Amino acid sequence: MQVKKAIFPVAGLGTRFLPATKAQPKEMLPVVDKPLIQYAVEEAYAAGVREMIFVTGRHKRPIEDHFDMTFELEVALEQAGKRELLDVVRSVKPDDMECIYVRQAQALGLGHAVLCGQRLVGNEPFAVLLADDLMVGEPPVMAQMVQQFSEWRTSILAVQEVPAEHTRRYGIVAGTPVNDRLVDVSRIVEKPAPEQAPSRLGVAGRYILTPGVFHEIATQPRGVGGEIQLTDGIAALLRREKVFAYRYAGKRYDCGSKEGFLEANVELALQHPTIGPGFRQFLGTLSS
Ligand code: G1P
Repeated sequence: MQVKKAIFPVAGLGTRFLPATKAQPKEMLPVVDKPLIQYAVEEAYAAGVREMIFVTGRHKRPIEDHFDMTFELEVALEQAGKRELLDVVRSVKPDDMECIYVRQAQALGLGHAVLCGQRLVGNEPFAVLLADDLMVGEPPVMAQMVQQFSEWRTSILAVQEVPAEHTRRYGIVAGTPVNDRLVDVSRIVEKPAPEQAPSRLGVAGRYILTPGVFHEIATQPRGVGGEIQLTDGIAALLRREKVFAYRYAGKRYDCGSKEGFLEANVELALQHPTIGPGFRQFLGTLSS
């Protein structure tokens, strides 16, 4: 049972980045030289996923254009003999990758966004990647999760320890350790207050879910913030199936916040093969 499909919920408004996101999807904000959504798509591709399902909304057309052929640009680069740039442009959508778009007409929450992909996913396990969470890992985090899935054949949630004062930002899980990295989840709660949080293991925006979750999401009442929550669907799924939380190896940048977005830009710029050394030197001049 392979994970061949991934859902990318990209219908959100991105209000935290206004005015940058007034006429541009937040998922298209670049970290160094690549839009956030491309990092997530590349991570899914590296994990063997080939069918990318984008749950979009109004004003999200630049995402569709980004993963489409850019004919005029490719011809111009070809004529100018700019092979390297042509490869950069063409590699955005490898030939064996399929992109499918479905609209989330109303912003009713993450669970609702995932539900919008139900028909396209059908009756097979699938991944969910939130582009706001930029994950850096080797192997990439989703590939680590697919590896776990192939072993355990049950839903896997990426988790990390979060500070007690941040539990309100995450789905928080609790359960029994299976090994150093895996927890057999017995509870999951969306954005609890620190005193109500069952642990400090927060869910990062990477999931592998079994298709049974669709029915569970569809039958949940609205949860935190009046939204249809993915976390609540997973909490219901727990009553029928095992769900594992996986402490991934790697680093997460919360690019849904300005601080996290800037940290990602600085760290990835420092690691960049061509601009890294010069940028490090520049940063050095700032501290004086
Ligand atoms: C969503 C989920 C939450 C998860 C988080 C990870 O929240 O609802 O459970 O921990 O993503 O980034 P959001 O950040 O969209 O409010």
